Amino acid sequence: MTQLNDTRSIRDLLRSRKSASAKAMTGPGPAAGELDEIFRCAVRVPDHGKLAPWRFILWEGEARAEFGEALRQRWQALHPDHGPEALAFAGNLFLRAPVVIGVVSAAAPHPKIPVWEQQLSAGAVCMNILYAATALGYACQWNTDWLAYDEGMAAVMGLKPHEKLAGLIYIGTAAAPLEDRPRPDPQALVTRWRPQ
Ligand SMILES: Cc1cc2nc3c(=O)[nH]c(=O)nc-3n(C[C@H](O)[C@H](O)[C@H](O)COP(=O)(O)O)c2cc1C
Repeated sequence: MTQLNDTRSIRDLLRSRKSASAKAMTGPGPAAGELDEIFRCAVRVPDHGKLAPWRFILWEGEARAEFGEALRQRWQALHPDHGPEALAFAGNLFLRAPVVIGVVSAAAPHPKIPVWEQQLSAGAVCMNILYAATALGYACQWNTDWLAYDEGMAAVMGLKPHEKLAGLIYIGTAAAPLEDRPRPDPQALVTRWRPQ
């Protein structure tokens, strides 16, 4: 068995990772080389049948505001009674972080690999992105928000009919110290199997 040299920092990361809030994020975000590394980590996930049933959409720089305009218009169409504050919030959603990565699940019926397993693999991709960004020293959060479930925004994002947004990963620098939340007691979740 290959022994990792540096298990302590890996275990520290696994035990302590927590999200930042996209609401409290600022720059800088990952540079080009770091983004490459994040994507290399992202695709290193279990993937039954080697289908790579996921892909990425990257928002950086001006694309965030351009997409924000589409978000604002869509929000207005969905909620014609909402005022300027709500519209501005929708329009500024992606400006909260310097980098947003959309993880798209491209799961599709397959003769051997259930769609469920392909979707789980997309979840693993999202998790690897969180670990990679955290290990590089960035703050990050996995969100979906309303736009992951909206047909209009799916068209703006260029999703095909069988594709779903598994996550929007906001990556940046924490503008405030990260707060942890109470974690479940893992022992309370474990049952030892006995013959039924
Ligand atoms: C699929 C998925 C979608 C999520 N969408 C949102 C969201 O839209 N908004 C939000 O505030 N948190 C969302 N969360 C929760 C955050 O990712 C995160 O769990 C939360 O901020 C607590 O941070 P933690 O990672 O330290 O537990 C989502 C989580 C998952 C797994």
